Amino acid sequence: MSGRIKQSSLDALLDRADLVEVISGYTSLRQRGVKYTGLCPFHQEKTASFTVDGSKGLYYCFGCGEGGNVFTFLQRMENLSFVEAAEQLAERFSVPLEFDEAGGGAREAHSGERRLLELLEKATAFYQRFLWESKEGSQARDYLLGRGFQRDVCEEYRVGVAPQGWRRLHAKALQQGFREQELEAAGLLVRQPGKTYDRFRGRLMFPLTDHRGRVVGFGGRSIGDESPKYLNSPEGPLYQKGRLLYGLFQARRAIAEVDEVLVVEGYTDVLGLAQAGVRNVVASMGTALTETQLELMTRFTPNVTFMFDADRAGAEAALRSGELARAQGLRPLVVKLPSGQDPADAATEGGAEAVARLTAGKVSILGYELERTLEKNDLTTSAGRVRAFEEVEKVLSRASSRKEREEEIRIIADRLRLSAGSVESLLRGAPGRSRRTATRGRSAGGTVTGSSGAVISPPARGGYEEGLRSPESVVEREFLVAAVSNPGAAVPLVETLTSAHFVDPVHRQVFEGLSAVLVAEDAVESLKGLTRLDSEVGRFFVRLAVETDPAIFTERKLEEQHLRLLELAYLREMAPLRRALEEGTADADAKRRLREKDQRLQQVRELISRMDE
Ligand code: GTP
Ligand code: MN
Repeated sequence: MSGRIKQSSLDALLDRADLVEVISGYTSLRQRGVKYTGLCPFHQEKTASFTVDGSKGLYYCFGCGEGGNVFTFLQRMENLSFVEAAEQLAERFSVPLEFDEAGGGAREAHSGERRLLELLEKATAFYQRFLWESKEGSQARDYLLGRGFQRDVCEEYRVGVAPQGWRRLHAKALQQGFREQELEAAGLLVRQPGKTYDRFRGRLMFPLTDHRGRVVGFGGRSIGDESPKYLNSPEGPLYQKGRLLYGLFQARRAIAEVDEVLVVEGYTDVLGLAQAGVRNVVASMGTALTETQLELMTRFTPNVTFMFDADRAGAEAALRSGELARAQGLRPLVVKLPSGQDPADAATEGGAEAVARLTAGKVSILGYELERTLEKNDLTTSAGRVRAFEEVEKVLSRASSRKEREEEIRIIADRLRLSAGSVESLLRGAPGRSRRTATRGRSAGGTVTGSSGAVISPPARGGYEEGLRSPESVVEREFLVAAVSNPGAAVPLVETLTSAHFVDPVHRQVFEGLSAVLVAEDAVESLKGLTRLDSEVGRFFVRLAVETDPAIFTERKLEEQHLRLLELAYLREMAPLRRALEEGTADADAKRRLREKDQRLQQVRELISRMDE
């Protein structure tokens, strides 16, 4: 994709776009020497672990591992493609963008995407107009008003209706210069052998937007009892069900203000609650939450509250979503609805007060699970109590902290009219306890959750940090940091090395990325090549670069660690040869190779010792 904009334009952008200024729009930064620090805009934190190095144009968060340059920052923050981020920056910092002719294909694809968004936007307006202005729209209007949804809220969420008839949108779109292929690519047209027709006909239309408010698809509800109840846009490059939250665009400000996000299942739940004045609400759209959806909402708050339908599916979705949230170190809450009700009913019938009464009774996800367990068993019989305890134990083994566990034990005690102490001692006697406690705090995804509830680190980084203690690892790392700080001096040194000089797999990857950039690109004087690196390695670079104190990681340090890398590699290569010699299995060739390597080792060691002079 980046082949489209000329490299010279990208370089100019990197020169002119002020990273500190851009980031300051999202979090407040404090200057510390040549660097800036602040609270990370990508994850929730109380102490500043986000570092911006303005002179290098790089940022890195030591808490969550996000890092990159001004492009990646905007891409991640605003959910933009590389080209979109570049275009925004170009406009903001008045840098004209030039394009490679050769990149025409990508450019076309991009403008194609723009056309589809335009088409979806026009379709939204068309459906909206049809709902409020056409005679045929009266059935849908009556339906909405009959369910208690006023025009205001419908307009805010841009609800519309698709006309009956096979090709009404089709005709309108073609009139406006769109092509059939575009209608099809936007998910608005169904193509069958010999015919094409509008996908959505006679349905209430809920536009699905990304968090910037751009319509990327639709959910269409039947107005009668036509099946299916909901028909959605097919998934495609623009719309992927699990990657957006219904209503997030309208709710973002309220979520940040209230510092809580209320998650419901359906479109109508969002409308009902918003109309009742509860505006920090999004819908998962029927299924349990996905990781991406969770990530989208927790950009605004860590406080997630589920308010799912009071039926079996709703309860299961709450439990699964709750587990996922807990695995991310969150402490989700659940609002229990009276059975058979959904949030839309509660809100449209009882208004804001009814909703407030319901949300006041929210419980932790663990408490919710415990309640369900206790409800399932007959606690008046001893067999029922034994079973209940066994199940309760299972639920409690997932408590991530002692505080959480104590809280839950109080709930059980309350419920069973026992003292917390006796519940505790009963649980201690429950079978299988020690086995389960061994896995406490480790989620299915392998993320380790601390007692503070914060996600400490993903496994790869945990392993990396541990590996730092070995002498090899220290040398490798310092070499890489010094190389990143002194790219010009690093080129000839990097060319003498191979991946075999790096023991740590992460370092090896970083080395491979580094040599690709240094050797293949002209951009030796800078780290611009970073923008084209695959994200895992790219982020690692950035971290190294941001950590770098130029006073320590000098060219001299680079040379010294280069020599040490060579020294360690010779030692590794010599070890099996030495062993063979001791065991008497070394042939003449092995002996010669050992001698050669030993000579080189001595030379390298001499060079190292001279460096100290
Ligand atoms: P009302 O019954 O009109 O209040 O709608 P609802 O949104 O409450 O519907 P329901 O509780 O049945 O489903 C919750 C959400 O799941 C919906 O808003 C949809 O996002 C999604 N959903 C439900 N049924 C379907 C379906 O048949 N197909 C698709 N694609 N999504 C569905
Ligand atoms: Mn519902």
